[in-house]
Amino acid sequence: MRSAAERPIGVFDSGVGGLTAAYQLERILPAERYVYFGDTARLPYGTRTVDAIRKYSLQDARFLMSKAVKAILVACGTASSNALGVLSERLEVPIVGVIEGAVDRAYAIAQAGTGKVAILGTAATIQSGAFERALREKDPALRILPRACPMFVPLVENGYTSPDDRVSELIAREYLTDIAAERPDAVILGCTHYPLLSGVIGNILQDSVLVNSSIEAVLRIRDVLSERGLNAQPDRQPAGERGAFYVSDDTEGFAGNARRFLGRDITAELVDIDRY
Ligand code: DGL
Repeated sequence: MRSAAERPIGVFDSGVGGLTAAYQLERILPAERYVYFGDTARLPYGTRTVDAIRKYSLQDARFLMSKAVKAILVACGTASSNALGVLSERLEVPIVGVIEGAVDRAYAIAQAGTGKVAILGTAATIQSGAFERALREKDPALRILPRACPMFVPLVENGYTSPDDRVSELIAREYLTDIAAERPDAVILGCTHYPLLSGVIGNILQDSVLVNSSIEAVLRIRDVLSERGLNAQPDRQPAGERGAFYVSDDTEGFAGNARRFLGRDITAELVDIDRY
């Protein structure tokens, strides 16, 4: 039987966005294996009600538990903002979302600057106020600029991620011009799709540091695993693929999209998520 440390990390998102976290996981924690679930049948989560996001997130996490994961990385800003509490209550493995790490990093940057932080996320993330609350807990005097950017996810899903794409630039200007005028010290990319738009967003928010919540979440899970003695040892891992990929619909479409995130071909298996 495998020891707890040798078990994979579970990672989920509504679709491909969480692959920005999978990519960072491969880079930052090269000894770890992971099981990825993308809920492509029910994407996007960002326009759903809180009840729906909680129900879907629990099913996603239960599926990952069926794969004997040692911890779960909620690689979705929307699920992290609306369902982290429920997941932590109901599941017996450590659950790490994308909020805490990003907030710590943004706060450190703002503290050394003028005390201004912008938060970009889906409608459900911004409505939940979760990033904002976590920042206020650090310092109630911070100037916080939250902004829902609902058209960013479809842009990424459809491949409009280059700073040369006029449509991406136009939409980003619409969302971000007034925020740019405030020159926030840090801008949290509070949706895991958004790191693919870093070039577009960075062109507009030139005076700000972009905080990639996927990187910060992986650094956080690294700390959580090491506190519990759960890090994989490089010499104990079998050879082969680092990640196993599962989706609730359209395996081909997911695999095609995944290439842009991971820079290599993968295959995905179909899961009937309603069973979980
Ligand atoms: N990647 C998800 C997030 O981080 C959003 C995509 C969606 O709306 O489903 O919020």
